[in-house]
Amino acid sequence: MRYAAQKGTRDILPSEIHNWQIAEKVFADVCHSFGYEEIRIPTFEQTDLFQRGVGDTTDVVTKEMYTFEDKGGRSITLRPEGTAGVVRSFIENGMTSLPSPVRMFYNITAFRYEKMQKGRMREFHQFGLESFGAAGPDIDAEIISVVDVFFKKMGLKNIALHINSIGCPNCRGEYNRLLKDYFRPHVSEMCEDCQARFEKNPLRMIDCKVDGGKDLVKNAPRLIDHLCDDCRAHFEGLKTRLEAIGISYTIDPNIVRGLDYYTRTVFEFVSENVGTQGTICGGGRYDGLVEDCGGAATPGIGFAMGVERLLLETEAQNALKEKPSYVKIYIASMSEAAKIEALKICYSLRLAGIGCETDMAGRSFKAQMKYAGKQGIPFLAVIGDDELANGEVKVKNMADGSETTVKLDGIGDFLAGK
Ligand code: HAM
Repeated sequence: MRYAAQKGTRDILPSEIHNWQIAEKVFADVCHSFGYEEIRIPTFEQTDLFQRGVGDTTDVVTKEMYTFEDKGGRSITLRPEGTAGVVRSFIENGMTSLPSPVRMFYNITAFRYEKMQKGRMREFHQFGLESFGAAGPDIDAEIISVVDVFFKKMGLKNIALHINSIGCPNCRGEYNRLLKDYFRPHVSEMCEDCQARFEKNPLRMIDCKVDGGKDLVKNAPRLIDHLCDDCRAHFEGLKTRLEAIGISYTIDPNIVRGLDYYTRTVFEFVSENVGTQGTICGGGRYDGLVEDCGGAATPGIGFAMGVERLLLETEAQNALKEKPSYVKIYIASMSEAAKIEALKICYSLRLAGIGCETDMAGRSFKAQMKYAGKQGIPFLAVIGDDELANGEVKVKNMADGSETTVKLDGIGDFLAGK
C-alpha cells in the first residue's frame, strides 16, 4: 500500500520550510510593532458558529465546509477561516471589558472543500489579524498599513490594494431593494444559487462564481453609489488616511467579499502572479458580527492572507530568502576516541547555542568530509590522535579556506558571533 497526501493538501518539506518560518517571523514582528498579540484558536468549532458568523448564503458555508458529526453526536466543522473563531474567543473570554482596541493576530490552517487550482488548496494557511472596539477609519488604515509594512519587509512590490465600502444595514436595506428591482426580470435566467440569493441576500449575487462575469451582474447598481452619510464619511476618512500615510489604492466597487459578515470597508491585495487566484489578502470591517455571535455590540475589523499565495508571489518576485545555515560547524573524527571527544564538544557547543554536527552514520573519514561539503556547513574541524594529544584543533573556514588553531574547548568562543 502506498499512501499519498490527500487532494488539496501538501507537505511543506524541510527544503522549503525556511521560507515559511521567515514569513511567520516577519508577520509576527510586524504585528507586534503595531501592538497586536498572537492568539491561537482551536482547529474545529461547532458548525453553527460558522453558519451564523460566515453566513449561510455564502459558498464557504453551503459548499465548502468540512463538517462531520463527532462521536458525541455534535456537528463539528474544521475552521474555513479564522474570524469566527477569534470572535467566539473574544466573547467567551470576556475580552469585551479590555481597553479597546483589542488587537490579536494569528497564523492558522484553514479548510475549504474547493476545486484545486494554483493557489487554491483544501487545507491552506492564513496569517490574519482582528481588531475589536474601534469604530472609526483610523483602525481601517492601521490594519491596511500592517499588510503594507509586511509586504515591504518581505521585499514584495506592486501588490495592488483595492478598497470598497459595502455600507451598513442602514444603507444596505435600501440598496437591496434596488438590486432586487434590477435583477427581478432576469432571476429565472440566473444560476440556482443566485435564485436562492435573490430572496435571502441579493448582494451575494454580485460575487457569484457562475454569473459574476456576465454583463447583467457587471452593470448592476453598486453599493458604493448608495451609501448613507455615515458610511460615506467613514470611507472618505479611510481614503484621507491612506493618502496621508502614502499607501496607494484603487476603488473597486465590485469587491463584496465571499463572507457575509462585512460592513463598510472591504479590501483586497491583488497580484497577477498567483494565477487566477490573485487575491493574496482580503479583509474588512464587521461591525455586527460580535453581536450576531452573542456578544455585546462591538465594532470589528480584520484581514487574512493566504500564505501559499504569499509565497507564490514571493517566488515570482524573486524575493525568496536564502536558507540560513543552522549548523555552523562539522566536527569530523578519525578514531573511536576522537569520535567520543567530538560528541562531547558538540554537546557543549549546542548548550552555547551553536549548531554543529558530527558523524552519526558510521562514515569513513573521507565520507565524513564529503558529507560536510555537500551539506554546505561553513566550518570544519578534524579531530585525530594529534588533536587529542595537543588539546588543539584547526578550524577551517570553508568559504575562504583559512585555518585557525584553537583549543578543543575554545571552538565555541571562536565561532561565537561568526
Ligand atoms: P478570505 O478572503 O476568504 O477571507 O480568505 C483570505 C485569504 O485566504 C484569501 O485572500 C486567500 O489568499 C486565502 N485563501 C482563501 N481560500 C483559499 C484556498 N482555498 N486556498 C489557498 N488560499 C486561500 C477570510 O478568510 C476572512 N476571515 C478574512 C478576514 C479576517 N476578514 C476580516 N477578518
